[in-house]
Amino acid sequence: MKALAALNPYFYKYKWHLLLGLLFVAISNVFAVLPPVIVRTVIDRVTSEAASFDFFKGTDLEATASSYVFNLVFWNGLLLLGLALLRGVFMFLMRQTLIVMSRHIEYAQKDAIYKQYQQLDAGFFKTHFTGDLMNRISEDVSRVRMYTGPALMYMTNMVVLTIFCLWGMSRVDSRLTLLVVAPLPFLVVAIYWVNRIIARKSEKIQTQLSELTTTAQESYSGIRVIKSFVQETPMLRHFTATAEEYRKSNVNMALTESVWFPSITLFVGISLLLTIVSGGYLAMQGQISAGNIAEFVIYLNLLMFPISMLGMVASMIQRAAVSQTRINEFLHIAPAIQNPAVPQLPDVKGTVDFNGVTFVYPHTGIVALKDFELHLVPGQKVCIIGKTGSGKSTVAQLLLRMYDPKSGAVILDGTPLPDYDLDYLRRNIAYAPQEAYLFSDTLYNNIKFGREEATHAEVLEAARLADLAKDVESFPEGYETMIGERGVMLSGGQKQRLVLARALIKASPVLLLDESLSAVDTQTEQRILSNLRQALEQTTVLVITHRLYAGWEFDQILVLDDGAVAERGTHATLMAENGRYAELWRHQTGVDETGN
Ligand SMILES: Nc1ncnc2c1ncn2[C@@H]1O[C@H](COP(=O)(O)OP(=O)(O)O)[C@@H](O)[C@H]1O
Ligand SMILES: [Mg+2]
Repeated sequence: MKALAALNPYFYKYKWHLLLGLLFVAISNVFAVLPPVIVRTVIDRVTSEAASFDFFKGTDLEATASSYVFNLVFWNGLLLLGLALLRGVFMFLMRQTLIVMSRHIEYAQKDAIYKQYQQLDAGFFKTHFTGDLMNRISEDVSRVRMYTGPALMYMTNMVVLTIFCLWGMSRVDSRLTLLVVAPLPFLVVAIYWVNRIIARKSEKIQTQLSELTTTAQESYSGIRVIKSFVQETPMLRHFTATAEEYRKSNVNMALTESVWFPSITLFVGISLLLTIVSGGYLAMQGQISAGNIAEFVIYLNLLMFPISMLGMVASMIQRAAVSQTRINEFLHIAPAIQNPAVPQLPDVKGTVDFNGVTFVYPHTGIVALKDFELHLVPGQKVCIIGKTGSGKSTVAQLLLRMYDPKSGAVILDGTPLPDYDLDYLRRNIAYAPQEAYLFSDTLYNNIKFGREEATHAEVLEAARLADLAKDVESFPEGYETMIGERGVMLSGGQKQRLVLARALIKASPVLLLDESLSAVDTQTEQRILSNLRQALEQTTVLVITHRLYAGWEFDQILVLDDGAVAERGTHATLMAENGRYAELWRHQTGVDETGN
């Protein structure tokens, strides 16, 4: 429950909504407890009139007496209607303040969570699942809203109404009040207990539903794989089994509820019976009036609704507390990579230095780079080549400060990366990642994502440099083509060139290309390389690849092996050394010659 205290600042922020809402709750309940009093008055008046009615029977006054009774009932009836309308108006206002407040809080909470997502470092996202993260922003937040909105509203309503009703009842007769209210605590306990069972069951149903959704979602996204491996029947069987479990739980839930609701009605009936029997007895003794019995019955009816909500409110609060605990945990994670206290924004020309950098991946303990040295002056081009898993992509991750090295330093234009303003640093490095991520938007917007303020001409130029322009022209809708979820409409090579265009449009002084041409054919590769040679003359470029790029003259070539630099030099010196690089070169060009 302590977790929910984290919401207090929000209540404070929306204090006017809250205070007005509570006021409206109180006012609407005043209009709820006035009717019993009116009903009692009318009944008592009418019964006493009935006595005098016999007396006036047959005289001139008979008509006057009957019109008196009619007027009494008619006008008080109208009054009751008016009160019900007023109660409705204030209930509307109470929802408009309290429920609206809960929506505001929900919005603010989602904002805070999203902000935290964006601040967390790459390491965090490797160890947490997307589904779980999605749940925090949707499911958990909406459960917390059930507390800040409905639960709060019902709870205040219940407290205010109970006080009003008990007060009204005890004014009539305190013994009768005690007698009638006596079964209620048992009812409260029973409701609380059964609701916990219902809550547990609905929790299970919720889990099964999300399992069902996941199964369905995976089948939809993987439908091509399912079809090509002819796995429709097993998948259907799996889905049917999950759906069957879900059905059983729901039927079971329906059973509990259908036993439960009549039981509540029974309890209420017992209370009503007590009221009428003992009220009647007291009335016969002349201690209370007949109107009082009716008054009591109405109070009791008024009390029933909030009491039957009690269990639900309790479980709402319980679930909200669990969800808020999860949210608090998440919000309190300090990102491993943070902006420095005094962020610097030095001029970036493109001098890159890796000074004896050793890096170990957190969580797995894999040593990805060992004592790595790399020094580049602006405009230089380096090729980092090596087998899969040799640590090439890690170099890019470190330069982008997705991680900080264990020892050694990464320095850009004389300023160590941790001193940089993070956003500024990342704006100054263009990066075409190995694993392309595309948004389900138009081609145009996916390129422009690299730099929001890019002009139309710059988008076209980036597409031309990445040799994507011709492909785009062949699409009926050109740049406005929607590329589908994660770019399913595009081929592997097209996706890669789109990611390349996105990096190029950033026009940063440093460019990182991680396996950017692995899925394009040799001729396209040649065209792109010759485009880049001209366009990137001033740019410091790190090319990461597992295969050679013939036709690009690199200032430096590094051969990485198991995180360590095995060879280093230019094409000429490495060929002269006749080591791995030379072997790779002979192998690859040999294949090329036979291949062509
Ligand atoms: N996020 C990560 N968490 C843990 N280990 C990783 C992570 N990324 C890569 N590694 C490991 O670090 C080593 C180097 O990986 P990487 O730099 O991606 O190699 P390359 O790009 O040369 O294929 C590999 O052994 C890989 O398994
Ligand atoms: Mg890699």
